[in-house]
Amino acid sequence: MKETVDMPHTQAVEPNIIPGRFLGRVAVVTGGAQGIGAAVALRLTREGARVVLADIDGQAMQATARKIAMDGGCVELIACDVRRRCEVEEMVGHAADIMGHIDILIHSAGVCRPVAFIETDESLWNETLDTNLKGAYLVSRSVVPHMIRRGGGSLVFIASTNSYEGEMMQAPYNASKGGLYLLSKTLARELGPYGIRSNSVGPGFIRTRLSEPFLREAAFINKYLNPDDPAIPLGRFGVPEDVTGPVLFLASDDAAFVNGAMLLVDGGQLA
Ligand SMILES: NC(=O)c1ccc[n+]([C@@H]2O[C@H](COP(=O)([O-])OP(=O)(O)OC[C@H]3O[C@@H](n4cnc5c(N)ncnc54)[C@H](O)[C@@H]3O)[C@@H](O)[C@H]2O)c1
Repeated sequence: MKETVDMPHTQAVEPNIIPGRFLGRVAVVTGGAQGIGAAVALRLTREGARVVLADIDGQAMQATARKIAMDGGCVELIACDVRRRCEVEEMVGHAADIMGHIDILIHSAGVCRPVAFIETDESLWNETLDTNLKGAYLVSRSVVPHMIRRGGGSLVFIASTNSYEGEMMQAPYNASKGGLYLLSKTLARELGPYGIRSNSVGPGFIRTRLSEPFLREAAFINKYLNPDDPAIPLGRFGVPEDVTGPVLFLASDDAAFVNGAMLLVDGGQLA
């Protein structure tokens, strides 16, 4: 991952791989080209799953697929803009065709641009809501019939601490993540009878391309990591590998009775 500033408070995390946990399982990972989605996809393949990456960024997706394949993982990639129903339906149909079935959906595709509310416009609102929330709807709406035919499945939505918190400069993002939180809970109730579990993960600050712009601001870093009163009690920012364990737990049979949960991965920020 590209480093932007010297960050002594970020530390590498070595995932605790559970070999074979996902053998025979197929996962679709939207936003799998980079950041949290890419780390989740890599770990899923390391634990035996076959993975389909679905992302709008073809170049980054190819780089991630190469990395997974060189690591010995089974991966396919399908270009897809989650904002567009036709592309989503085509992607999901193709994923089911080439892999045989779909057991797991990880919806990690997302965008985030901080803008003061009085400077927001309709285009920012649409881009954010269409990707983060409508995208989640379109992808799950398309995947779920395959899971019903399969007799069950697991949906994991990458929500945010902002599902709960009205962070300033983030009105469209907060609205999208608040909506995603309740979409996930609604699906838990409606799809539970089909053996489909629906949960979400709420990352706090995780170092990725999406969060890089924030790291250029000393005031931001000071707010979160000020040694006297850090907003993140663990005193560091997260890395994508911090999120993979919770996501894989929710996707796995270890969470067989966990449905409708939101698992915060924020170093205690919302504690
Ligand atoms: N990084 C954080 O601090 C943080 C915190 C809370 C929640 N999240 C959430 O985690 C998820 C992943 O974010 P990240 O930090 O890994 O960001 P990222 O920018 O590294 O990755 C996001 C991925 O989504 C893809 N994407 C964007 N728009 C798309 C579209 N229309 N169709 C298909 N793919 C699209 C991008 O190409 C990219 O590969 C997002 O939903 C984000 O809101 C991130």
